[in-house]
Formats: sequence, C-alpha cells, structure tokens
Amino acid sequence: MSRILLGVSGGIAAYKACLLLRLFTEAGHDVQVVPTLNALQFVGETTWAALSGKPVHTSVMADAHLVNHVRLGREADLVVVAPATADLIARAASGRADDLLTNVLLTATCPVVLAPAMHTEMWLHAATQANVALLRSRGVVVLEPAVGRLTGTDSGPGRLPEPEDIEASALAALAGGHAAAAMASRDLAGLRILVSAGGTREPLDPVRFVGNNSSGLMGVALARAAVQRGAQVTLVGANLTAEPPAAVRVVGVVSTGDLAAAMAAEAATADIIVMAAAPADFTPVNPSSTKLKKAGDAGLTVEFRQTTDVLAGLVSTRTAGQVVVGFAAETASDESELIELGTAKLARKGCQLLVLNNVSGGAVFGAPDNQVLVLGPDGVLSSAAGTKTTVAHAIWDAAITVKEGKTA
Ligand code: CTP
Repeated sequence: MSRILLGVSGGIAAYKACLLLRLFTEAGHDVQVVPTLNALQFVGETTWAALSGKPVHTSVMADAHLVNHVRLGREADLVVVAPATADLIARAASGRADDLLTNVLLTATCPVVLAPAMHTEMWLHAATQANVALLRSRGVVVLEPAVGRLTGTDSGPGRLPEPEDIEASALAALAGGHAAAAMASRDLAGLRILVSAGGTREPLDPVRFVGNNSSGLMGVALARAAVQRGAQVTLVGANLTAEPPAAVRVVGVVSTGDLAAAMAAEAATADIIVMAAAPADFTPVNPSSTKLKKAGDAGLTVEFRQTTDVLAGLVSTRTAGQVVVGFAAETASDESELIELGTAKLARKGCQLLVLNNVSGGAVFGAPDNQVLVLGPDGVLSSAAGTKTTVAHAIWDAAITVKEGKTA
C-alpha cells in the first residue's frame, strides 16, 4: 500500500477524479485528497471525504499545528494532480505557494504526475507549453492530454486522459525504475511506433470462431507508455478487451490474415515495431458461409491450414535502423527452460528483441500484472515485473537502447 496524494484543481473534469480516486483505493492505496478552493466548486468536500475515507485538507491555515503544508508533500509516495488546469500548471511551474496544493508540490520529493485538462487553445498556448516544458525538465510527469470532446461541443487536445490511463501511468511512475524519468524526458519523442495487440479470431462460420485467451492488455499498455514518452503510436488491435488511450491511432482487425495485412501496410514508416498480439497459428481451410448445423454423433471435423507468420514477414522487410520486437508466451517449468526456449525462438524469428513470459497455468491472460524477461542476441537484457504498464516501460527501455545502437 502506498500513500497517494490526489490534488484536484478547478476544472469540470474534477468529476472524473472521483473515478480515479476509486481506482487508487480499489488497488489498495491510501489516498489523501487535496482539492483547491475552485475544485470544490465542481465537486464538494463531502464527496472527496466519503470516497477517500478520510478528512479532506483544503487550506494552509486549517490545522496549522499539523504543519500540513509541509507534511502532506513529504509523506506522500506519489502526488497526482487530476485535473491539472492551465492555472495550476502555471503556478506549479513558477513555484508559487498560494494554496495548500501548490505547497504540496513544492515540498514533495516523490514522483509527481500532472494530468492536464483544459480547452485546446489554453493547452496549445505558448505560455502553457513553456510551463509544461519547464515542469518536465524538472522531472515532473505531465501526461499527454487526450484528444476528444471538451466541455462544450468543441473537440481537440486538452481533454483529461481517462481515469484508467492516468492510474496506469501514475502507478508506473510510483513503481520506481525509469518510467517517471522517461515520461518526463519524453525519450521516445519523434519516433513512430507500431504495436500489435490482442488475439485474432479465425471464422468457422458467420457466428463462430476459433480464438485465444489474449486480452490485448499488454499491447494497450505498450501503446499507453509509448504515448506518454512522446512517441507517435499506431496500434493494430485484434478484438481488444481494453480501450486504448485516445492519443493512439487504432487500426482494428479480426483474423491473422487481417493483422498481417494491416501490419505490412504500416510497417515501412515505423521506427520500432512490437508484435504483442497473439495471432492464431491455424485457420479453417473452408469457413462455412452459413451457420453450421448439429450433425448428430458425427460431430464436427474442421480442417485447418497454417497462417502466415506475421513477425517473420516484418523481419524480412525490416528497414535500416528499424527495431522489431517479438513476444513469446511459453509454458516452461523454470527460468532456465524459459530462456532456452526463448533463445531458440529469437534465433528462429530473427527479431532484435524477444519479450518472454511464462504462461504455465494461463496466469498472464487478462491479468493486470505481468512478469517478463527481455532477451537480446547476447542473452537476457533485463527483467521486469509489475503492472503491465510498468512492464511496458521496461520493454521500451530495452527497445530504445537497441535503437540507439547501444546493444544488439
Ligand atoms: N506471431 C506472428 N504470427 C503468427 C504467430 C505468432 O507474428 N502467425 C508472433 C507473435 O505475435 C509473437 C511471436 O510471433 O510476437 C511469437 O509467437 P509464438 O506463438 O510464441 O510463436 P510461434 O512461431 O507460433 O511459435 P510456437 O511454435 O512456439 O507456437
């Protein structure tokens, strides 16, 4: 359990911070809410107190003997401000301490994550952009706002990222490692990244298919982490169970054939490609155009043919400097067998990196957490465990190292 300080500034998106608060408490964290006085115009103190299960602090002057303006920031393991308005960002950048929340920002030594929400003009204004750049240069994680519907009928960048996306990035920053620094420095800026995710479905007839257990969560987490590190991301998603972040361009596919075509169409312009999808290896030779009927004791016999190996195709068309990353889900009895299977697969597939996980018992599918080894031609480069977004950051760390030519 970690101590999360949730700051809320005065914007209409304050209501979404209630959902974020619930996500943090349901994940087992202790949350202290510090709303600004303007935030209380949107969501009242009673709501924050009831949802967090503790009193809300709103003023530097109240409970002065507790020295809240210093204590709260010092005691927090993570500070998240959602929504962070243009004014809150400006005050944070200039080091103001004119309310309790800005005092917290000046005293916190833990990771600080700001989730902006404002109108597009305010977000794109040179003043806001300069403030954001300054905060990032100081190591503050300023999340990329979502693109979409704003308060009125207008639409554009400036929308608060969805609570699930804020939670995932904030918990990755909390997990330690390199994620917070990478999101602040935006080390993938300027890179075009292509990720595949999900499990393909091969049709048996118009209503039935052969599928697999992949949820697509790992690929969505990779896309989310890459966006927050500044990359331009395209996600080819097969039957995803989770909504990708709004800043990601999504190409929806169903079967392995569709996936192969979509990846081939997008690959040429990508700097890094990650095949996190679980494409079916076999597809029915003759899917029925009408619904298959029961045939008594004869049952059903279906003839399958092998599908194209999408990863092998991407490796064969790899352009100079492009990094191709494969995944391998293996059922191994221990780590040395896992590495042995992975090493053979890496050599067979010819990609630069292989992300290995042990799926004995089906533990990974649909789960929020994962545990992986990242394998390069010279052996294990790194290992990572934690939420899928935390693991995704470790995979990008390895991919960027290879991209910059430091290994492989
Ligand atoms: N993959 C692919 N096309 C397929 C099957 C798999 O591109 N038709 C990709 C996966 O996305 C993954 C990698 O290949 O990145 C390894 O997947 P896996 O199923 O472990 O590989 P297979 O080649 O199917 O190996 P195995 O013989 O162990 O099933």
